[in-house]
Amino acid sequence: MPESPRDEIRRLRREVERHEDLYRRKHAPEISDYEFDQIRDRLQELEAAHPDLAGPDLGIGDDRSEGFEQRDHAEPMLSLDNTYRREQFTAFVERLAGKLPAQGLHFVVEPKVDGVAISLTYEKGVLTHAVTRGNGFRGDDVTANIALIPEIPRRIKGAPDLLEIRGEVYMRMEEFARLNAEREAAGEPLYANPRNLAAGTVKLLDREEAARRRLSVVCYGLGACRPSAFRTLSDFNQRLKAWGFPTSDLFTVADGEDGAWKAIERLDAARRTLPYPTDGAVVKLDRIDLQAVAGATSKFPHWAVAFKFPPDQAETLLRAISMQVGRTGVITPVAELEPVLLAGSTVSRATLHNADEIARKDIREGDTVRIQKAGEIIPQVLGVVLDKRPSDAQPFDFESRLRELGLDATRDAEEAAYKLRAPSREMRIRRLMHFASKHCLDIEGLGEAVAEQLVDLGLVDAPTDVLSLEPQHWALLDKFKEKSVDNMMAGLEAAKSRELWRAIHALGIPNVGMQTAKDLARHFRSLDALAHAKLDNYIVQRVGKKGQELKSFDTVISGIGKEVANSLLSYFSDPNHRDWLKAMRKAGLNLEEAATTGSAVQAVAGKTFVLTGTLPTLSRDQARDLVEKAGGKVSGSVSKKTDYVVAGEEAGSKLDKAQELGVAVIDEAGLRKLLGE
Ligand code: IVH
Repeated sequence: MPESPRDEIRRLRREVERHEDLYRRKHAPEISDYEFDQIRDRLQELEAAHPDLAGPDLGIGDDRSEGFEQRDHAEPMLSLDNTYRREQFTAFVERLAGKLPAQGLHFVVEPKVDGVAISLTYEKGVLTHAVTRGNGFRGDDVTANIALIPEIPRRIKGAPDLLEIRGEVYMRMEEFARLNAEREAAGEPLYANPRNLAAGTVKLLDREEAARRRLSVVCYGLGACRPSAFRTLSDFNQRLKAWGFPTSDLFTVADGEDGAWKAIERLDAARRTLPYPTDGAVVKLDRIDLQAVAGATSKFPHWAVAFKFPPDQAETLLRAISMQVGRTGVITPVAELEPVLLAGSTVSRATLHNADEIARKDIREGDTVRIQKAGEIIPQVLGVVLDKRPSDAQPFDFESRLRELGLDATRDAEEAAYKLRAPSREMRIRRLMHFASKHCLDIEGLGEAVAEQLVDLGLVDAPTDVLSLEPQHWALLDKFKEKSVDNMMAGLEAAKSRELWRAIHALGIPNVGMQTAKDLARHFRSLDALAHAKLDNYIVQRVGKKGQELKSFDTVISGIGKEVANSLLSYFSDPNHRDWLKAMRKAGLNLEEAATTGSAVQAVAGKTFVLTGTLPTLSRDQARDLVEKAGGKVSGSVSKKTDYVVAGEEAGSKLDKAQELGVAVIDEAGLRKLLGE
C-alpha cells in the first residue's frame, strides 16, 4: 500500500531530526548533505501541499550538548540555503534582485570551509566569548577550547563596542592526517573526516586532548555590530585582516550572476588542492545595507547562498558484506567492493554503519552501488543502482548472516549496533594487545603475533590472564626459547609496578582514553575507589537559587561528563570485569596512585609545563612522565598560567606564544636541571 501523505510527513520529519542529531551533536553523519537536503526538500514540498498535516518548524538543527554553559547570540546565526546546479543558483540571484531596488549586484565569493560555525564576541575590543551556533539563537559557550587556537586575537584596536565575528573552525588536512597516523600506530579506529573531528574537538571536555588536536579558524561574517561600522563585506574583510584574523585567501569580489558563477567555477577547480576541507562556495551580497533590505527567512538569509560542489562519486560492484568486530564487541557491517578509483585513491571497502542502514537502503550482495567520498577517508555507500541489480539478488538478512558467521550478537532496543554477547577470538586478541600496549601496561615483547598465540593456545581469555602465566606456559609459544621466556617474565614483572593510570587505561573501558585515565587516577587514587564510584562521584545536579533541582549539572572531575561516567559505571557493574580487577590484585599489579611526595621535586612540583618541538634524547611521553612524576603538570597549550615551555628542535607557534607572553623557555638540559638530574 502506498504511504499516505500523513505517514510520509511523519517519517520524513523523524528522519530529518535523526540526521540533524547525528550531524550536529554526534558528529557522525550517516548520509551526505545532498541526501539530507533531498529529504528536507521532499518534506517541505509535502507540507506545502498539505498545510493541515504540517508540523512545527524544524529549525536549523541544534548542536547544544551537555556540560556547557549556554549563551544568547546578539544577532541570530542563520544557516545557508544550498544550491547544487546553475539553474538553482540563477534562481537565487533572480529572487534576490526582485527584492532590491534595480541596480547592478555586487557579490563576494569565497570557499565554503567544512567545519563548525563559531561566533566570537568582542566587547570594547576584548574577546569575551566563543559560542557555537546552537539553535541559531542560543549556543554552547566553548571559549575554553576556542582559546586554544593561537591565531584568534584576544584584543583588537578600534573595534565597535560590541562586535560578533562569525567564522568557521576547521581542521587542516595535514593535522587530520597527523592525528590519524597516531591513531593507526596506537591501533585505534581512525577518524572519518576532518569536519567531524573539528566539530567533536570544539565540544571536547578534555582540555588536554583538545589542545593536542590543532584547530584552525577562518573568519567571514558579521553578527551584531554596535555602533554599526561597515558598509560592505569587502570593507569588513579588510578590517578583519588588519586586526590579524585569518580570512580566506580566496575571497573575491564579483559582479552579477555571471561574475559570481565564474568565481564559483574557479573555486571548484582549486578545491582539491586546498589545505583545508571545502564542500562548496558561498556567494554573499557585498553591501550590508542591502542585506538588511533583502531580509531572511527563519533559517536562511535571502542575500547569501551556498553552492555545493558535487562530491566525487563512483559506481562499483558490492561483492560481499563482511562483519567487522571492534575491541569492545561492536559489529560494523562493511561493504567489500570491486576496487575502483575515487578522488585520487583506490577504494575497496566502505562502511555500511549498521543493520538499519542496510535495510533502509535495501543494499544486497551482488548489487552495483554508488559510493561517494566527500572529505572523509572512508567512503559512503549512497545507494543501489537498481537497474543493475541481478535478478537473483536476495535482501540482506543481518541476523542470519551473524549466525552463519558464528557471531552470537544482540542489540539493545535503543542501540543501532549489534554487539557480541561473549568475546570472540579477535576481540580477545585486540583486548590483550591494548592491555599490553605502550600507553597501557607497556608489556615489552607482547605484540600481535604473541597475543594471537596466547589466545589460540587457550592461555588467555580475559587480558588479565596474561599476568598469571608461568614460564612453562610461555615455553609453549612458537620460537620461545629460554631467553625469550625470561624476557617475557621480566616484561611482566616491570609492568606490575607501573602507574595507576596505565592499569585504568589497560582495562579498555569505552570512552576512557589515556587522558581520562590519568584524570581518574589523580582523582580516585586507587582502582578500588574508582570501581566503587557512584554517579554522584562524577556529576552533581545544579541547584537553583530557591533550592530547586535544575536540569543542568556540574562535573566533579573536569572533563568527565555524563557519558564517560555512565560508561565507567556500566563497566564496573559487569561481574566479568570485577574478576579482571581481582586478577590484577592477585598478580600484585600496582593499583594505587603513588604519593607524589616521594619523588616530587621542589622546582617542578605544582608547575605547569608545555612541551614543544623535538627534544634531543627524550620522547614527548618520556618528558611528560618525568615532569608528572616530579609533581608537575603538562598542558597542551601556552597561556599566562604556563610556568615553563620546554622547546626542542622545530618548535613552532607555542614557542612564539611563550615569547609573546614572557613565559620562561628552557631546553631539555634545562628541564633535566630543574629535575635535579
Ligand atoms: S556565511 C548568514 N561564509 O556554512 C549565514 N558561511 O551551510 C552566513 N560556512 O552556517 C554564513 N564557510 O557555518 C559563510 N565562507 C563562508 C562559510 C560559511 C563555511 C558555513 C557556516 C554556515 C554554513 C551553512
